Amino acid sequence: MHKGLAIYPGSFDPPTNGHLDLIERGAKIFEELVVAILRNSEKSPMFSVAERLEMLRQLTTNLKNVRIDTFDGLMVEYAKSMEATCILRGIRAISDYEYELQMALMNRKLEPTLETVFMMPADKYSYVSSRLVREVAQAGGPVKGLVPEVVEQKLKEKITTPKRETRSIEILDRIDLGGKELDPKDTKRKKKV
Ligand code: PNS
Repeated sequence: MHKGLAIYPGSFDPPTNGHLDLIERGAKIFEELVVAILRNSEKSPMFSVAERLEMLRQLTTNLKNVRIDTFDGLMVEYAKSMEATCILRGIRAISDYEYELQMALMNRKLEPTLETVFMMPADKYSYVSSRLVREVAQAGGPVKGLVPEVVEQKLKEKITTPKRETRSIEILDRIDLGGKELDPKDTKRKKKV
């Protein structure tokens, strides 16, 4: 086992079986592993940081040397503040390599003492990504086996529950209209944020 702490940074929107597989592998190699969720990503996420934190916590309760955290700004600065010695990233296929290489070399330029370590998840997860999971789930397709059950359940809830933001805008719209009900055909007012 490698002495020291490693950071496994990512968006985890949502966590997949591939992520979990990598966390389990990383936990065997490193003394301590911190799974760090990026806050303030430019992308508009499906799950809030709090939801992702909660899901990852639930999924890793059995792994005693794994902690879940969030970070903002430069990852290397966060890693330094945690006194980490390694960054853990997963590579599924050759298509991941170019982006991961760029990121690893940029991180090395920013902080030469931090080493990026790549691990491969099980080949059965080599095509699984958060983006495709979101896409399949949003279109009503099955995601069983691609994500842990707790995530599968959360995805179902997300898709069947109307967005709170949309509902609150509709309520605000009603107030704007002086309490008059919305015309259901007036779709322009049912905007999303
Ligand atoms: O799961 P993802 O979206 O592939 O993770 C990307 C992540 C969060 C690891 C990367 O975007 C990141 O580290 N962002 C923090 C800002 C930063 O340090 N950027 C320079 C990286 S070279």
